[in-house]
Amino acid sequence: MLTALVLSFATAALASNATGPYGLHIKGKTDTSIDGYGGACHAGAAIEGICYGAGSLNTTATYSQFYFNYSGYNSETGEVSPYGWVEWQLPYVDQNGETAFEPEALSFSANLFSNVAAGLFQPGYEGGTIFQYNENGLLYITGGYDDRHNNETYPNPPTYFGNTSSFHLCYQFTGGYYYQSIAWVSGTAPPQNPSCEPVDLSLQLI
Ligand SMILES: *[C@@H]1O[C@H](CO)[C@@H](O)[C@H](O)[C@H]1NC(C)=O
Ligand SMILES: *[C@@H]1O[C@H](CO)[C@@H](O)[C@H](O)[C@H]1NC(C)=O
Ligand SMILES: *[C@@H]1O[C@H](CO)[C@@H](O)[C@H](O)[C@H]1NC(C)=O
Ligand SMILES: *[C@@H]1O[C@H](CO)[C@@H](O)[C@H](O)[C@H]1NC(C)=O
Ligand SMILES: *[C@@H]1O[C@H](CO)[C@@H](O)[C@H](O)[C@H]1NC(C)=O
Repeated sequence: MLTALVLSFATAALASNATGPYGLHIKGKTDTSIDGYGGACHAGAAIEGICYGAGSLNTTATYSQFYFNYSGYNSETGEVSPYGWVEWQLPYVDQNGETAFEPEALSFSANLFSNVAAGLFQPGYEGGTIFQYNENGLLYITGGYDDRHNNETYPNPPTYFGNTSSFHLCYQFTGGYYYQSIAWVSGTAPPQNPSCEPVDLSLQLI
């Protein structure tokens, strides 16, 4: 698994491109009343969170269209890497007065005060979180050491969490604003923020 990760990063520099647009379907894992779509919502200068909108997808609005920017492809087979960034394209007016788009990658940064981290789109890709998605469009992260049984003995072989989807819908500070928006809950403990509900987040081609 580690080898696969390293290889996919090694090809990342070669090429990248985005597929989409996709709607981001938000569906409650336990609370079935949560069924709607994500929309990019202003969280700071050129920063957006993923806010929840109940009901059907607005297929024409820029705020509800997202992309999956795969991180590279196999130069021998042409096969696209399954790893990539979830992307939103921030519209802005360029110096010629035309609408242009700045691609932004979704990131979840560790929160030192809570196991709940708000998802934010920010310019650039360096801090972007690398996702995969399955045949149903369900986004997940793979890997991560399972440290729940660690002791002084080197774990051989180490155990990993495998495919993990830990998205939640929470009332939370999202950049500088307070929204009901998407978060990632780290580890296996319940979210510290009691408003969080576990959800599936999936790409739905528009
Ligand atoms: C990226 O994808 C778009 C849409 O499929 C295509 O038009 C464009 O040529 C691609 N760019 C590169 C660099 O492959
Ligand atoms: C995809 O991500 C790369 C960064 O790796 C970025 O340079 C490029 O503009 C993105 N492509 C699209 C089509 O958004
Ligand atoms: C969908 O989004 C467009 C563009 O923002 C807006 O004009 C339209 O009213 C929206 N439609 C619905 C049903 O909300
Ligand atoms: C993880 O996801 C990949 C791709 O969807 C799949 O091939 C693999 O079987 C999954 N692994 C597990 C343990 O479900
Ligand atoms: C350390 O953990 C391993 C794997 O869980 C276990 O087999 C072993 O007995 C543990 N050693 C001690 C000293 O607890």
